[in-house]
Amino acid sequence: MAKKDTQLPDLPEPYEYVDTLGSGSYGVVVLAKDATVKDPEKAKVAIKIIRAPQKMQVQAVARELMIHGAIKHPHIVPVHRCFSTEEHIGVVMEYIRGGRLFDMVNNVGPFPEAKARWIFRQLMDAVRYIHKDMNSMHRDIKLENIILADAKKQWPTIYLCDFGFARTRGPQFGPTISCVGSPNYFAPEILLRNAKNQRYDGKKADIYSCGACLFVMLFGFYPQGVVTKDRKAGKIDVDSIYIEIPKVQRQRLHPGHKEVPIGPECLNFLSQLLEPDPEKRLTLEGIWKDRWFRDNTHRRRRKVAAVLGR
Ligand SMILES: Nc1ncnc2c1ncn2[C@@H]1O[C@H](COP(=O)(O)OP(=O)(O)O)[C@@H](O)[C@H]1O
Ligand SMILES: [Mg+2]
Repeated sequence: MAKKDTQLPDLPEPYEYVDTLGSGSYGVVVLAKDATVKDPEKAKVAIKIIRAPQKMQVQAVARELMIHGAIKHPHIVPVHRCFSTEEHIGVVMEYIRGGRLFDMVNNVGPFPEAKARWIFRQLMDAVRYIHKDMNSMHRDIKLENIILADAKKQWPTIYLCDFGFARTRGPQFGPTISCVGSPNYFAPEILLRNAKNQRYDGKKADIYSCGACLFVMLFGFYPQGVVTKDRKAGKIDVDSIYIEIPKVQRQRLHPGHKEVPIGPECLNFLSQLLEPDPEKRLTLEGIWKDRWFRDNTHRRRRKVAAVLGR
């Protein structure tokens, strides 16, 4: 058996530690095998281990499980079961083999429009399900939380993961006030809320983060490059965010950035997703009506790729 991190608890039977897949805000995700399953590939599972000795954390974990555990969707990582030890909670999930979408963009560079749309449509399908069917919001949509079934495929299937910040929004809950998620994908109102203590609509903020994901897939860098720089210095400059995002124009996107051949319909769609005013931002209904979003070029190209065996 592979050497495991000494911080990690022993996994309960029938799971055996194989490797560490990733670690983040309050958990570690490990690759494990189910000893009762003979086929070594089928035996693989991913287990998110969350340290939960305190009441607050138990509440947070319960929320993640309540939302993620109840979801069944073709583009959301399936949860098989959960277990608890004295100090930890484990979420046993299907192991998704292809790695993070973030690493794929990082390794191969920006995607052509048709491929970005193919992935974005899967993401929006998952988000529509979370917002409409589950009446919840994810609040941490980013390329690091999207994993690929098979990274080598030209038209990969994606899965959204990490429901650590997700919330249900029933009638008893108003707009959210907490500042969670990842600054590179933050909607401007989350940062504004930080500055002025305002409330914001988490579902609208999710749409912005999806727009940021599409942007990164197409351009290979974040919409608010300036913010990243400021963040390194330990602060986020709210004003700087507003400068470039409303008008997604190639020449203004990033100083010194070489031209990316992206069509006007795509740029128009992006600028409506990255609209700083949440009230004017595209809604789910608007997204499904958009010409660029509805374009089926990827379907034709997939058929050609299938014929060519790619
Ligand atoms: N079901 C899974 N299959 C394969 N890899 C996974 C799975 N779930 C998570 N991972 C990997 O572990 C990383 C961290 O998982 P995540 O749920 O995002 O936790 P955190 O809250 O720590 O960010 C992900 O970015 C991904 O690389
Ligand atoms: Mg994560």
